[in-house]
Amino acid sequence: MAIKSIFIFISLLFISNLSHGKETERNGEMVNITAFGEGRCTDTSFWMKWHWLPMWRMLGSTGRINFDYHPYGIKTTCVDSDDGDDVKCECHHGERECLLNQLQACVIEALPNFEEYMEIVTCIQGKQNITMASEACFEGPTKLDRTKMMECAQSRHGRKLFSDQENLVSQIAPEMDWVPWILINGKRYKEAEEDLWQFLCDKFIDPRPIHCPKKIVY
Ligand SMILES: *[C@@H]1O[C@H](CO)[C@@H](O)[C@H](O)[C@H]1NC(C)=O
Ligand SMILES: *[C@@H]1O[C@H](CO)[C@@H](O)[C@H](O)[C@H]1NC(C)=O
Repeated sequence: MAIKSIFIFISLLFISNLSHGKETERNGEMVNITAFGEGRCTDTSFWMKWHWLPMWRMLGSTGRINFDYHPYGIKTTCVDSDDGDDVKCECHHGERECLLNQLQACVIEALPNFEEYMEIVTCIQGKQNITMASEACFEGPTKLDRTKMMECAQSRHGRKLFSDQENLVSQIAPEMDWVPWILINGKRYKEAEEDLWQFLCDKFIDPRPIHCPKKIVY
């Protein structure tokens, strides 16, 4: 008799937890992730392919993830032209990296929702140059016009979109000395580079979504 009551009690507890879990998952706090990276940086490329996209595939359905990507990294300097009408930037991995970053910035401007831009930005990432990127990345269901995006990447507007991110870096990531540089709710976590999905599950998304791997004790 006693054992049966305990069983019923535990079942009720489990059921109430489950429904409570669903409720909080829907209404729970958003997790705000902001990342900075460089178009020719292999660590950024790796992170996008093996952490960013897979994380979204696994945790996107929780409705709890906000994301913001900025193609702007370290060892980058931009100076305004003499007439103040244009800007000239130098990038960590050279001229073609600036162009790749500019192409990514143009895509992000055209598709402000990260769910829409993340696949294309990841495709552009790490390509030899913008010609290679434009050939590979504007096929398929995207509504973006390849010619327009290529023009944007090489225009004053594209350079401005790119260089404007310098201000954001000085506001929210002044200590950035590495990319990818990942902020979660405004704070930088190195762990988010190495194991984004696991780290979000373990530290930020409570109650734990069913898609999460086993918890790691840090
Ligand atoms: C882009 O890279 C490809 C492959 O390395 C090369 O064949 C092509 O000439 C490059 N284009 C430009 C504009 O640099
Ligand atoms: C996340 O961003 C949203 C919208 O920008 C904001 O309202 C919320 O306070 C942020 N949450 C945290 C934990 O920073």
